Amino acid sequence: MGSHTTREIQDESKASKKDKRYWEYKKLGFSKPDTAEIVNSLNQLLANYQIHYQKLRNYHWNVVGPDFFDLHEKFEEQYNEAIENIDDIAERIRVFGYTPMSSLKEYLANSEIKETGSNLSGMEMVSEILKDFEILLSYMVNVADAAIDTGDVGTEDMINSFIKKMEKSHWMFTAFATKK
Ligand SMILES: [Fe+2]
Repeated sequence: MGSHTTREIQDESKASKKDKRYWEYKKLGFSKPDTAEIVNSLNQLLANYQIHYQKLRNYHWNVVGPDFFDLHEKFEEQYNEAIENIDDIAERIRVFGYTPMSSLKEYLANSEIKETGSNLSGMEMVSEILKDFEILLSYMVNVADAAIDTGDVGTEDMINSFIKKMEKSHWMFTAFATKK
């Protein structure tokens, strides 16, 4: 093939600019500013979720006492669910063309959920997890609100399924912690 004429090169560059605009527009039908609020609420949820996840690992490893077998297993079940949700949240942020918070430093700085030591009783661990659930639920509701405001049914659908599951886990851990 011969070398391109200047004209051909100009035409190609125009076409690729046009394609780029086309794809940016087609990307979910939302512009970047449209999704800024959703992304912000997703990042806040992500930071809290990461700290919660690490607490579950801490408690899975370090729980002792008569409830060891129950709690050791339940905490594992919970952290497996958490890690899947965390991945979905971060990838949803990527879908909108933003970069999710990705460092532990950022998570610690932005999380309302706080870490604890390892020397807690099983019941203290359960009560920490219940408090975490409540905080996470409030951040999930923020995501739902932002998604509904923007008409973003994809994020709304994702977050609704998280909320439903977390409400069920909240009930189960509450039942476990209730003395009769
Ligand atoms: Fe394990």
